[in-house]
Amino acid sequence: VDLQSLLNLDDIEEVATKKISKKAWAYYYSAGDDLISKTLNNTVYRQILLRPQIFVDCTRCDTSTTVLDHKINVPFYVCPAAMARLAHTDGEHGIAQACSTFGAMQLISNNASMTPEQIVADAKQGQIFGWQLYVQNDRAKSEAMLARIATLPMIKFIVLTLDAPVPGKREHDERMNNIGANLPIKSAVQSGSASNTGTNPEAKSLGGIGQTLFAGTACDLTWKTTLPWLAKHTKLPIVLKGLQTHEDAYLASLHTPQIKAVILSNHGGRALDTAPPAVHTLLEIRKYCPEVFDRIEVWVDGGIRRGTDIVKALCLGAKCVGVGRAALFGLGAGGKQGVERVLEILKAETETCIRLLGCEKIDELGPQHINSRAVERE
Ligand code: FNR
Repeated sequence: VDLQSLLNLDDIEEVATKKISKKAWAYYYSAGDDLISKTLNNTVYRQILLRPQIFVDCTRCDTSTTVLDHKINVPFYVCPAAMARLAHTDGEHGIAQACSTFGAMQLISNNASMTPEQIVADAKQGQIFGWQLYVQNDRAKSEAMLARIATLPMIKFIVLTLDAPVPGKREHDERMNNIGANLPIKSAVQSGSASNTGTNPEAKSLGGIGQTLFAGTACDLTWKTTLPWLAKHTKLPIVLKGLQTHEDAYLASLHTPQIKAVILSNHGGRALDTAPPAVHTLLEIRKYCPEVFDRIEVWVDGGIRRGTDIVKALCLGAKCVGVGRAALFGLGAGGKQGVERVLEILKAETETCIRLLGCEKIDELGPQHINSRAVERE
């Protein structure tokens, strides 16, 4: 396919769906139970209306911003997502190269199908990454990974995911047990080796790829015990991922300076079905504990389909916005170039939105540019 003929993220997903294996598609597409949270993620931004200001100069448009004092050229990033090589052999390294082209940040999954060393191998000067941690029951495994991450200076923070101590019940993924039962690629953590990107013959993915990947993941994490443990094993700033209530965001904000940011996320709807989309949590924080925004950065992910979605989240106080499946489907549609096309589309749409709102820069965006009444609760 001519990637330039794909005009939006739906076009990309359609092409990827035809190209990747059924098993990969099911794993990427799947979400918990009835996909209520996933569907809400994908529709909630559409209910928020924009309030453009006319008759203002919008000749220039600068989409750059900062995350934790690091400059990024676009206000969106690629979420940590497992097993990119199920979509294309370019894998997470291909995503890294696409991010490099656009000056975007990438968060590397604990369950990536390539090692962190391979993924950052060709990173450009100034390119930044985070590494996402699922704490393992065997803490020594996680400690060893954290030690490896400490040797890679382009990895700037640790993203600790907390919304999926167990995976949600993902039936699309589970049904695919019946066709080609083996997990075709081992995650870097499972393999424990620095170079494994081959097949994993022993792993029968009963319950789906999700269940297989989560074997060994710890369920006993707590504010009290896990943060001190983590402080012992990394000097990098911590970003907590998967917050879904203002109470938890407030609690996180009490743990500065170790915690520098939170990611409001329901894991793309893949954990607890009917958990709220990030926008609801963002609105709750604005209402009940807006001081959180002064203490830590608030990032969001889930359901981003358009540049307008990204801008709306920024208007509500998000510092940056993650895309998960879109990057994987980009990879499926055309490898590294497919991911580049996804980032190109999102950047162009974001620029158009900012200019049509009557702005030139990210830090001019604010609540005055949106009407979110339709999604406000209570
Ligand atoms: C994920 N996500 C995820 N999150 C995480 O912290 N560690 C991980 O390994 C994974 N793996 C993963 C695999 C796949 C296939 C998907 C789709 C998602 C969740 C991800 O980081 C993010 O929260 C959501 O994907 C965002 O929603 P959208 O953009 O996919 O709608």
